[in-house]
Amino acid sequence: MKHIRKLTAVLLALLLALSVSSAAFADDEPEKCLRFNADGKFKIMIFTDAHEDDELAESTRALMCEALDKYEPDFVVFLGDNTTVWGYDRQVAAIDALTKPTRDRGIPFGMVHGNHDSEYGTSRDGICAIWASFGCMTYDADPSLYGCGNCNLPILSSDGAKTAFNLWFIDSGSNNTDPGCSGYDYVHPDQIEWYKKTALALKEQNGGEVVPAIDFQHIIIPEVYDELYLELPRSFGKLTFERADKDYFTVPDLMRLNGYWLEHPCPPDVEDGQLAAWKEIGDVIAEFNGHDHKNTLQVNIDGVDIVNVPACGESAYHTDYTRGVGLITLDEKHPRNYKYELIQMYKLALEKDSGIPAACGEERSYYQKIAVLDFVPQVFFAVCRFFNGIGAKLSATLGK
Ligand SMILES: [Fe+2]
Repeated sequence: MKHIRKLTAVLLALLLALSVSSAAFADDEPEKCLRFNADGKFKIMIFTDAHEDDELAESTRALMCEALDKYEPDFVVFLGDNTTVWGYDRQVAAIDALTKPTRDRGIPFGMVHGNHDSEYGTSRDGICAIWASFGCMTYDADPSLYGCGNCNLPILSSDGAKTAFNLWFIDSGSNNTDPGCSGYDYVHPDQIEWYKKTALALKEQNGGEVVPAIDFQHIIIPEVYDELYLELPRSFGKLTFERADKDYFTVPDLMRLNGYWLEHPCPPDVEDGQLAAWKEIGDVIAEFNGHDHKNTLQVNIDGVDIVNVPACGESAYHTDYTRGVGLITLDEKHPRNYKYELIQMYKLALEKDSGIPAACGEERSYYQKIAVLDFVPQVFFAVCRFFNGIGAKLSATLGK
């Protein structure tokens, strides 16, 4: 049945590609192969949780355009909950509008599904096909796998001689539909087995050395709870909250707050073994997720950075402190030491000549107020990062 759905989706994509004017693709066909630049760097910009429809909000469009122009990424990832709109034609128009700033600049791009994209009448396979028709580089590596769009994109070294880095794109699903289960979906065993098999094949091609990698998926891994929250033996009213049959103290570990943590994360209830697989293979240095629109926290769990990128879309629930886009800079010479920056929208809006409109009828000076109010938390986060850095070095030294 699934093969029939996928075949239908491919046929729909072909029809769509024929029906859209050739001008839409002629000049902005993305490169088919990723490669480090001559200076050894490679920049990836992340847009997540746009939640946009076929009338792309002006602030979302301006945010994307100004971030792309200022930071000139080599690749863009749309990290899920990209478009939320009923009707196939409107879905096509929404994806067209959302990807246009990236396509207009000739920047190659990939995507993963969020939990919401396929809740509006178009299947995940159908949505993948629409994205492909606009030149999206991600693809369904194995149509038999759970979900759609599970794949990897290697980045070649600047001289093109070898695979220097690898990007994983995993469909973290929508809702858990297993009998008797609830909550968000999880990464299924066949996806994890495919990941391990493909990573080991890459390792073999790379002379026996694992290829360092980043994983992009919409929903955060469940291990964040045991890492950041204290589990208590029973409920203590408002002092605790329950998830996956466990009671946790409401306040997370404050010394780990190196970014905004304005809502409890929403991973699946199921511990699916993905983190264990990353540790077993040893290639994944970081996982980037969206989903929790207001959070910007980064936490290292067993050697893997878990990074929450906040929402970029006006239509998504968000705060103007955190709304923005992510930027990863990879260094070919030091592939395990990437740099990550959160580009907050208000900072771009305060730049001279910015065209980002003020939110909800406010004056543009509104962003100056946000800047003042954001100052103290950012100092606190910097202090946390400093002490966490010392702690990590100490434990690494003591562990040797
Ligand atoms: Fe979302």
